[in-house]
Amino acid sequence: MTDAKKSIHGEWSSRSAFILAATGSAVGLGNIWKFPYITGENGGGAFVIVYLLCVALIGIPIMIAETMLGRRGRENPVHTMQVLSKEAEADKRWHYLGWLGMTGGLLILSYYSVIAGWASAYVFKAFFGSFFGADVTAIETLFRDFIGSPMQLIFWHTLFMMATMLIVARGVDNGLEKSVRILMPSLFILLTLLVMYAMTTSGYFQGIHFLFNLDFNKLTGNSLLIAMGQAFFSLGLGMGCVMVYGAYLPKNISIAKASIVIATVDSLVALLAGIIIFPIVFTHELNPSSGPGLIFETLPIAFGSMTGGWLFGVLFFVILVFAALSSAIALIEPTVCWLVESKGVTRERACLQSGLVTWVLGFGTIFSFNLWSDVKFFGLTFFEVLDYLTANIMLPIGGLAIAVFAGWMMKQQHSRQELDMPDPQHYQIWLFLIKYIAPAAVFLVFLHVMGAL
Ligand code: TRP
Repeated sequence: MTDAKKSIHGEWSSRSAFILAATGSAVGLGNIWKFPYITGENGGGAFVIVYLLCVALIGIPIMIAETMLGRRGRENPVHTMQVLSKEAEADKRWHYLGWLGMTGGLLILSYYSVIAGWASAYVFKAFFGSFFGADVTAIETLFRDFIGSPMQLIFWHTLFMMATMLIVARGVDNGLEKSVRILMPSLFILLTLLVMYAMTTSGYFQGIHFLFNLDFNKLTGNSLLIAMGQAFFSLGLGMGCVMVYGAYLPKNISIAKASIVIATVDSLVALLAGIIIFPIVFTHELNPSSGPGLIFETLPIAFGSMTGGWLFGVLFFVILVFAALSSAIALIEPTVCWLVESKGVTRERACLQSGLVTWVLGFGTIFSFNLWSDVKFFGLTFFEVLDYLTANIMLPIGGLAIAVFAGWMMKQQHSRQELDMPDPQHYQIWLFLIKYIAPAAVFLVFLHVMGAL
């Protein structure tokens, strides 16, 4: 067997560097902004359990599969799928999976950047003391006025996209590793401190009850789909991001172990965010299902009244912006990688081109919070359509395709060799999950939702 071609982008310097970068891709707005608000909208406890089950049974096996495909293919998702389908003697059209991923990644980034822009703006609001002593109504008004202003949102979205393009232009190993190395531990420390604060609030037990109480009556077919979509979103699966990161992975690293570590850290961060936010929601009698503004309407209340709130507030939003940045670079990387490898443009140019497309698309999301808030398609705003289409349709389809390819198309001798698990039984477990459980689960959830329509 010949050694796989070395990636032209350089490689991660060590196993921990890959874990850090992939964790950086996974941990982001999905955990801290999205998880709490969709949990709020979908009734709490039962939704959380379904989400965690999806992470364990579908997410982890697919993460292993996607990393494995990337490491074996060694290039951008389109090319990787071309190479691997040839090797597996499968249909050439598998490379459309790469296209799905690149398109999905940019669509997601277009709204991701807008929300990351909100977080950036909140760094300054925290810094200039806007939350100090503010009550629930003041914090709500602050948020409403902010998202009501297209110019402000455009400004912050532009800034965030520029930062993303700048970092990506410098390449994956320059800076990316270092920033995540500082970022992840700080995020954990800060979240732990905030959990301690949440424990002192009067709504703590109510919040915990909401988050962990298993009332399956609240679960609809659609919330099953949303929980599954969130598992894909939060782990960053199905769009070729994990695949390109896998392409930079040296040979001697256990993909399975790394995937389990990443998924565990990712779920922990989401749960911690929930444990912090829901007690604040109930203490101040807010509505858990208030939507995408949830963290921006709850956390500032805490920062405005707690000791050290100024410092915690600034730190929290700074870390959130960095966590969003390390996910944004993962979302754009497949396209940049493809432009460089297949179109022969320079890395700088590739960043500029894909960044510009994403930036323009972002205007749709910006306007759905103000100028176009009444423009609805099937009762949803532009942002909501984009979110539903990507998270709940494109990601599961991408994940399903990865599972089918890795489980059914790829030769077992190749996947076994690539995964190189010390215990043959572990390989069998993975194979079972990826061949039967993951595809069946995705399929059944889709079927259930179609039936419910
Ligand atoms: N996982 C990131 C978050 O939770 C976002 C993200 C990165 C992502 N890469 C992705 C979402 C690929 C979907 C697909 O914030």
